[in-house]
Amino acid sequence: MAEMKLLLEHSNDPEYATLKGYLAKGGYTGLGKALKMERQAVIDSVKASGLRGRGGAGFPAWIKWNGIEKEITKPHYMICNADEGEPGTFKDKELMENTPFLVIEGMTIGGYATQSKVGYIYIRGEFVDACRAMRKAIDEAYANGYLGKNILGSGVDFDLYIHTGAGSYECGEESALMSSLMGERGMPRLKFPHAPLPTVAGLWDCPTIINNVETYSCVPFILDRGGEWYATLGASTKNSRGTKIFSVSGHVNKPGNYEVEFGTTLMELLDLAGGMKGGMLKACVPGGSSVPIINAADCERAIIGYEEMAEVKSMVGSGGCMFLNEHTCIVSFIWRTAQFYANESCGKCTPCREGTKWMFQILDRIVRGKGQPGDAELLVDITKQIDGRSFCGLGDAAAWPVAGAIRVFPEEFEYFIKNGRSMVDSAESRAMAPKWAQPAYS
Ligand SMILES: Cc1cc2nc3c(=O)[nH]c(=O)nc-3n(C[C@H](O)[C@H](O)[C@H](O)COP(=O)(O)O)c2cc1C
Ligand code: SF4
Repeated sequence: MAEMKLLLEHSNDPEYATLKGYLAKGGYTGLGKALKMERQAVIDSVKASGLRGRGGAGFPAWIKWNGIEKEITKPHYMICNADEGEPGTFKDKELMENTPFLVIEGMTIGGYATQSKVGYIYIRGEFVDACRAMRKAIDEAYANGYLGKNILGSGVDFDLYIHTGAGSYECGEESALMSSLMGERGMPRLKFPHAPLPTVAGLWDCPTIINNVETYSCVPFILDRGGEWYATLGASTKNSRGTKIFSVSGHVNKPGNYEVEFGTTLMELLDLAGGMKGGMLKACVPGGSSVPIINAADCERAIIGYEEMAEVKSMVGSGGCMFLNEHTCIVSFIWRTAQFYANESCGKCTPCREGTKWMFQILDRIVRGKGQPGDAELLVDITKQIDGRSFCGLGDAAAWPVAGAIRVFPEEFEYFIKNGRSMVDSAESRAMAPKWAQPAYS
């Protein structure tokens, strides 16, 4: 299956980031159609499309949209999660920079369907170019009646604001994002079933929809061409429909964003990215740093789909796909991943605050050549104390890569602990390792 460009079809055309260029390529046809439909029919169209959230969890978009109260008792809000902090993922950045009107149109359609008059795009502060591109596009949309009061003469109002974050991974977690947006510390809140869903009490305790940049960007196509049409894409999979953008990086010849239909194989995605560089395929982290690593044999049979990826014990996640060649030291790779999660833990709950630090400390001593017998088992034990026991998903996200790497490559951990040095003596593993640990790689 070849590359299937839907969202990214015009991403290389600078004109597409202007309103004139966007309209010339059929932009805003979806909104035009939506505004002539009943609100519920718009939600039903999204339901028929089978669209699932592209931010990582794959939750059906229509269930959120349908869950918001139909009678207005408080203001409704729409949030676009543009924090994109997952290491390995850079698709939302490209969408905002090159196809900003897709996000705006998708949010406006969502605003109409859910009776939200105000939307926020929460953008990672480092994404300066994305912020600028979104600002320019929003200004153009306002100036031409596509945002603001009485959009296209329909009587529908929708205002859109940009809010920049300060580059905290945790602020991508939806409840922490809302806290940050409200000016509070970027920490998560109690969640359903212990607290109401955001669709009931989100931003300022009002009904709120939160979706990812890519999720919103799919919506104009669904409304324009129909939910049933969209659902034909990916129909070979159990329950994944449409296309998915993968940010491919690592030891590949052509790193970049590639959009494929669900049902494409992982090896086809690798081919699109120009194949392996510098050596044979050893492993892949298919969906961003938090998803479990898979070995080359599983890569060969992996099919891109939410349920299909689970068959090789990994996930589609946010689509940050890192291919690693045979010269990669998996222990160093996981050491670096663990360091990220220990740094990004917000500290609110004990399993994650303490556990992520312990995992990093143990991996750190292994990489320094000072691992102790039983360290691998200890790491696995700690992952079990974090996974499912933390206050938010960051704890799970920190535990899965460590548990996965030890399950798939136990011999590399055993060798490093026993011999005080990496099993993989190579320039690649030396480059990945910290300077102070170089002796363990030569
Ligand atoms: C620690 C953590 C970080 C997250 N970061 C992001 C992010 O950067 N972007 C994103 O869209 N979703 C992120 N999520 C998922 C969001 O909480 C939420 O599920 C998502 O924005 C919903 O949108 P979707 O249904 O369209 O995927 C993160 C979740 C966790 C636990
Ligand atoms: S799991 Fe706990 S400590 Fe970790 S980021 Fe979430 S709330 Fe903070």
